[in-house]
Amino acid sequence: MGNVSIDEKLNLELESFLKDIEATESLDELEKVKTKYLGRKSFLSTVLKNIGTLDPAERPIVGKKANDVRKTIESKINDKEKYLKDLEFEKKLREEKVDLTLPGKKLPSGKKNIISKVIEEIEEIFIGMGFEIAEGPEVETDYYNFEALNTPKDHPARSLHDTFFISEDILLRTHTSPVQIRYMESHKPPIYIIAPGKVYRRDYDVSHTPMFTQIEGLAVDKDINFGNLKWVLQTFAHEVFGKDRKVRFRPHYFPFTEPSVEVDVSCNICDGKGCRVCSNTGWLEIMGAGMVDPNLYSFVGYNEEEVSGFAFGMGVERICMLKYGIDDLRLFFENDLRFISQF
Ligand code: DAH
Repeated sequence: MGNVSIDEKLNLELESFLKDIEATESLDELEKVKTKYLGRKSFLSTVLKNIGTLDPAERPIVGKKANDVRKTIESKINDKEKYLKDLEFEKKLREEKVDLTLPGKKLPSGKKNIISKVIEEIEEIFIGMGFEIAEGPEVETDYYNFEALNTPKDHPARSLHDTFFISEDILLRTHTSPVQIRYMESHKPPIYIIAPGKVYRRDYDVSHTPMFTQIEGLAVDKDINFGNLKWVLQTFAHEVFGKDRKVRFRPHYFPFTEPSVEVDVSCNICDGKGCRVCSNTGWLEIMGAGMVDPNLYSFVGYNEEEVSGFAFGMGVERICMLKYGIDDLRLFFENDLRFISQF
């Protein structure tokens, strides 16, 4: 009779287990079920431990039954464990899902400096008129910066430039005009170039910084005259400041041009009526220019009887200030994002 009751108890135990496992919803719960039905204190362990106390004839029958039940329980627990683990993994995947179609985080991007943009704009204008871009070194010799530009050592025009000298003969160029000499030395006319670049002078206030940017221009060909100069610079001024600006050429002096002029455009702030920006003159000076002084040709081996030309030079920051109404030159070099990001 005892074995029948054990058999029945095992059946009841299995039934109870099946109900519990069915209701198990987490790995934690599953661990408890496992302890309850297979642990040291479980009914099944007790039966298997005490099998030796049974009637020898009953032992194999009860033993087999108990083992069958244990195997069934073990395999159901394994199945459930796998199922719950898969479920948990899927849940994790769902939570960590990355939607590749969502827009990414935007990083602030760098932009071209306004000076670079204006240089490019000016380059485009002159390229449109047949000019090419040339370059020269920022560390120059006295010869190219002054001497060959008709400015010998004792020349009074040298005092216009407060020069950074590196040695007696080497200096930081004070203007882009030395590119004229270097280019003519290595090329034969016809020459139509502009040369943008940094220049250096010992100055610092609202309208002067020790480094600033110039664009040099040079045209040398047969029969170039002042009318060609006027047309080119007028066309340039209209492109940069607008077709309704008036342009005027005012006599001036530069050692390397003869005759020399300064070029003014009518003030775009007051439309020529006179205001603070144009110092009540109605005009804004935008560059120096003139016919290439024939003396320069002797420095580069040209025959002054055969060629003529014009040259001009402008400050890029100044053009920027006039174009955009900026009143302090130092703003260009302070890298204040509130300033930079306006353009
Ligand atoms: N180099 C002059 C300066 O820095 C500007 C200049 C004036 C350049 C007249 C020229 C020119 O080529 O013809 O003040």
